[in-house]
Order: sequence, then C-alpha cells, then structure tokens
Amino acid sequence: MNKKNGRKILLLPGDGIGPEVVREVKKILDWFNDKKSLDFTFEEELIGGASIDINKIPITDEVFYKSLESDAVILGACGGPKWDKLEFSKKPERALLKLRKELKLFANLRPAICFKQLVDSSTLKPEIVSGLDIMIVRELTGGIYFGEPRGIEPIENNQRKGINTHSYTTNEIHRIARVAFDLAKKRKNKVTSCEKSNVMEAGVLWREEVQVIKDKEYKSIELDHMLADNCAMQLLRNPKQFDVILADNLFGDMLSDEAGMLTGSLGLLPSASLGAKDKNGRIRSLYEPVHGSAPDIAGKNIANPIATILSLSMALRYSLDLEKEADKLDEAVQKVLDDGLRTKDIISKGKKEVTTTDMGDAIISKLK
Ligand code: IPM
Ligand code: MG
Repeated sequence: MNKKNGRKILLLPGDGIGPEVVREVKKILDWFNDKKSLDFTFEEELIGGASIDINKIPITDEVFYKSLESDAVILGACGGPKWDKLEFSKKPERALLKLRKELKLFANLRPAICFKQLVDSSTLKPEIVSGLDIMIVRELTGGIYFGEPRGIEPIENNQRKGINTHSYTTNEIHRIARVAFDLAKKRKNKVTSCEKSNVMEAGVLWREEVQVIKDKEYKSIELDHMLADNCAMQLLRNPKQFDVILADNLFGDMLSDEAGMLTGSLGLLPSASLGAKDKNGRIRSLYEPVHGSAPDIAGKNIANPIATILSLSMALRYSLDLEKEADKLDEAVQKVLDDGLRTKDIISKGKKEVTTTDMGDAIISKLK
C-alpha cells in the first residue's frame, strides 16, 4: 500500500459542539481527498451522550474496535447536562477515559500558542502573552484518574466517604518524561516538571525519576522542578519562562486549561494523545480539541472549529506522515486570522464575526 494512501480515520463527533466542529474537519478531509488525491477513508461513529441516547452505553464494542484499527481517531467532545444525573460509571466521559486507557494513550500533548493576530483576545496583557509557545505534556493513563481503590462508601454515623487513589510507578514516569525531553529537543531544550513533592510521596517519586531520565539520557536539556501550585501562578505571572511543561494526569488537566486561556480562547487549543510505537512502528493516537462540549453554545453554529482543525493538523503530522499537509493547514488557519475573520469567542473590535461553517470554508479557501 502506498504510504500516503488509504489511511483510516475515525471521526467521533460526540456531544454539544462536537458535531459542529468535527463537520468542518470532515470538509477538510474531503478537500484533501478531492484536490490532493489523498484517499483518506473516514467513518463517523457515536460516542458519549450521543451513544448513550441510542445504545444506552457511552461507547459500544464495535466503535471501540474501530478506534483500535484506525490510523487516527478525531474526537469532538463528550458530555453535557443531559447526562449529568447518570451513575458515574455510565457517564459520557467514561467513553473518553476508556479510549485513553485501553488504547494506552499515555502521552497527551497540549500546545498553547498565542497567535500574533489574537494577542488582544487574551485576558492577560499583550506583553505577557505575545509570542507565547508552550507545550504541555500531560500523563494520560495513570494517576488519580485511574488509581484503585476508588469509590464512594458508607461509613459510620450515616456518613459517606469518597475515595480516589493517586499513584505512579517508575516506568510510567520514565516513559512520559522521555516524551517531554524528546519534544524539548526539537524546541528550546527546556522542561519544567510539576508535582507536589512537598505534600505527596508520589510527587517525590515523580521528581526523582524525571531527574534520573534527564541525568542518564538527556544531559543537554535544562530541567527545572516546580511545585504545581507555583506553576499555576507562574503561568499567569510570566508564562514565557516555559518551554515544555511536564505534569501528571490531574495537574496536567488543570494547567492545560489555564495555559489555554493565555492564548485567548480554549477554542484554539488542539491536543494529541499518543501511545507507544507498536512493532510495525505504528502509534495509536487520538486527537481532540482541549475544549469540552460547551452545551451553552451547542447547535448555534458559533463554536470555534480551529481547535479541532488544528487537532487534524496534529494527526497529519504525528500519525499520518503528512508533514507538508499539516504545515499547509496550519498556514491556512494563520491566513484566515490575518484576514480578520473571528468566531464569537475571539472577536475583537474591527474584526469580522463569522460562524463555525464560515470559518471552516474560509480555511479551506486558503488551502487552495
Ligand atoms: C480534558 C477533559 C477531560 C479530562 C474530561 C472531559 C474527562 O477535561 O480532556 O481535559 O478531565 O481529562
Ligand atoms: Mg480538562
């Protein structure tokens, strides 16, 4: 098979604004197929609440196996108020966590770049955020998200106890540290590793084991250790001190939302979740915008599709071996922003407000 052809992509639009933003990705895939003879095959399936409504479960085995067999999965968003009352294990978000865990997608890459055209959309002063380019590397299959024991149990005096367990092993820390160091090599050679080693043993281990990998394998990289709460503060005080931020599952979740807001809007942030290489050199992967399902604006055609479109560009780069096409797509997004087109979340004075569909069309027109 021709390397560039016949790549299988699975689209999982999901809930809320998911279907609207994934629709724009579909248009771009069609364009690549038509105009660049790229011959992507793509299928669309239900996930999250959309799957619960039809199948009673957030992801069916069939969809799960399709994800396993795809070269890349692109997901919109999971969850919404409609399903909030469901028992915990049946909630839409469980589908996403199952995919991450069972596809072994331990490395979550969340770039936070402040585009020059959007410096004014940030709630921070322009001089603080202009030129910002951070990569957050979040561990995605361990820590408190998956640790056992977990649950809610009755205790004495009619009280209840909620339990979650935070734990990491040496290997889990080593493999995610390597991802961060490898990325830093291609950037500014600097990693800031975050934990709470002042209060958590798992944090002490995290700090020590990240240092071990740096000392053994990445001597030329600069490594700082920072307490996660301090990192949250430093992100607002002086975000440009960071190059790659390495964090566990929970701290990475929080720090990436914060870093996202520095760029102006969560509507701009893509992410890639990657597993290890299998014996054929293939990497399992899932691409999704960092923003959630945004039920408040769903169905209005006002959501920003850029985060999902940039997630496609990450898929082209990391999973589909189509670096040039990824560059092209990134440039097309830049050009549309240069032209002053903005969705509602990033609108500012003198710019033209456009719908989700218009934004997608405009980006396609710049690919031409
Ligand atoms: C994210 C989200 C998810 C997470 C939710 C939807 C389960 O916040 O991808 O950042 O907590 O990981
Ligand atoms: Mg999050």
